Amino acid sequence: MLRPEFPVETERLLLRPYREDDVDVLHDIQSRPEVVRYLYWEPRTRERVEQVIRESSAEIEGEGSELTLAIQPRGSDTMVGDVVLMYHSEAHRQGEIGFVLHPDHQGHGYATEAAREMLRLGFDQLGLHRIAGRLEARNSASAAVLERLGMRLEAHLHENEWVKGEWQSELVYAMLATEWASLR
Ligand SMILES: CC(C)(COP(=O)(O)OP(=O)(O)OC[C@H]1O[C@@H](n2cnc3c(N)ncnc32)[C@H](O)[C@@H]1OP(=O)(O)O)[C@@H](O)C(=O)NCCC(=O)NCCS
Repeated sequence: MLRPEFPVETERLLLRPYREDDVDVLHDIQSRPEVVRYLYWEPRTRERVEQVIRESSAEIEGEGSELTLAIQPRGSDTMVGDVVLMYHSEAHRQGEIGFVLHPDHQGHGYATEAAREMLRLGFDQLGLHRIAGRLEARNSASAAVLERLGMRLEAHLHENEWVKGEWQSELVYAMLATEWASLR
């Protein structure tokens, strides 16, 4: 359903499937408490990260599957983060994006650039009608990415989830295919 040719190229980035030799840098990212602070999971062990690499998919085969790509700046051989496009519903043509960057590589617009490419793949190649972005309400850096992409804030769900020992609130951003077309 969606099998991009790799690497997917943007102005400054290459987006490509995880490689086995990404394990050190991916573990460095996913084991940091500050990175996972507003994610659902706890810092990951190296073994768990190896499993993540083994089980990740770089194509969307149908509803419920997701495309996860490493973000690698052009001219470098090392990934600095990752971006995901989830295919939630074929009937409703709904998807969702997510992104994570190594703290040393934040502040350059890489998450925005990579996520914009996932919107393009989702709308132009997968034919999605709506793509959402969901985040913990205190995750202002994530909200800023979604706003830079032109996504609209649709909902603020107050204390709708019990995560990491506390009630957390959720923001839902989204963009429709018509809005994507009008941005281009
Ligand atoms: C969410 C996350 C990826 C955002 O990272 P980020 O580096 O702030 O986002 P971008 O890569 O889009 O960079 C934007 C920053 O680069 C700056 N920038 C520099 N050059 C830029 C360019 N060419 N284009 C856009 N922004 C640019 C922007 O001004 C902005 O800086 P600011 O925060 O000081 O305003 C990062 O905070 C993260 O990994 N968090 C932990 C994981 C997480 O919570 N993920 C989201 C789950 S919902």
